[in-house]
Amino acid sequence: MEILNRGDALQAWTAQMRAEGLRVGFVPTMGALHEGHLTLIRKARQACDRVLASIFVNPTQFGPGEDYDRYPRDEARDRALLEGEGCDALFLPTVEEIYPTGRQTVVRVGAMSRVLCGASRPGHFEGVTTVVAILLNRTQPQRLYLGLKDYQQVCVISRMVQDLGMPVEVVGVETVREADGLALSSRNRYLTSEQRQQATALNRALEAVRARYRQGERGGETLSSLARAVLMESGLDRIDYVALCQSDTLLPLPQAGEDPIMLLAVHVGGARLIDNRFLARD
Ligand code: PAJ
Repeated sequence: MEILNRGDALQAWTAQMRAEGLRVGFVPTMGALHEGHLTLIRKARQACDRVLASIFVNPTQFGPGEDYDRYPRDEARDRALLEGEGCDALFLPTVEEIYPTGRQTVVRVGAMSRVLCGASRPGHFEGVTTVVAILLNRTQPQRLYLGLKDYQQVCVISRMVQDLGMPVEVVGVETVREADGLALSSRNRYLTSEQRQQATALNRALEAVRARYRQGERGGETLSSLARAVLMESGLDRIDYVALCQSDTLLPLPQAGEDPIMLLAVHVGGARLIDNRFLARD
């Protein structure tokens, strides 16, 4: 695997890919890699000629008081994992390299980035879209691989790509879970064993909602209340949001329409965990 520590090394690599007519799949990450990230690498591997990953803990997407400083960093382990998956190149930029001194430009998506996680983490998606736009400009991949666990992130980035006419295809990859249903997340390591057990309620709540939906329930309030009840039963009372939304727009649904998605965000100990479930899809 080629380590591209600097922008000019990356530029040479992408130029070579273009010259050889190779299709590049790009997997941006913040490191602390787990099976979820590695699944994105594998999907890219299957569909593209070359796979490029990046590790960059992006300061602009963390709010004040969030976990930027304590975000887990383990470059040696991450490198070995990527190598093991046959990743072709890894871009490891510094903060200075991504954000030039005196920068004045941000990329901000409209209403869709202000609801759900955007409401409780002001500025978060602006940080995400700005860094992803910069990374896409630098890496110029044919495909961008993103995890559906961060469903709003996929929607907001897809909107940006469409609105700015960026020549890249966004591919959303199914959420990878532990055996007990907990979605893998770098933030799960903040949990004590008791909290880890409580956290299984996120998946249980979504499963309960899906079962009720399949029995015919369509009321947004009824379905949300059911999810809240399951969370509360497990002692998870710091619920940030539970929302039934239209999957393509993220608009809230008083009544489940076509292809609804239930999304939730819950504080468990020192971690804020998110998860979601499409109710009508298999
Ligand atoms: P990070 O949290 O490191 O996640 C990198 C990618 O892995 C994202 O697309 C995320 O959705 C995906 N991912 C995380 N957990 C997953 C799981 N359990 N199953 C499947 N995919 C999973 O998301 C970010 O970084 C950043 O916001 C980034 C896009 C890199 C911009 O800074």
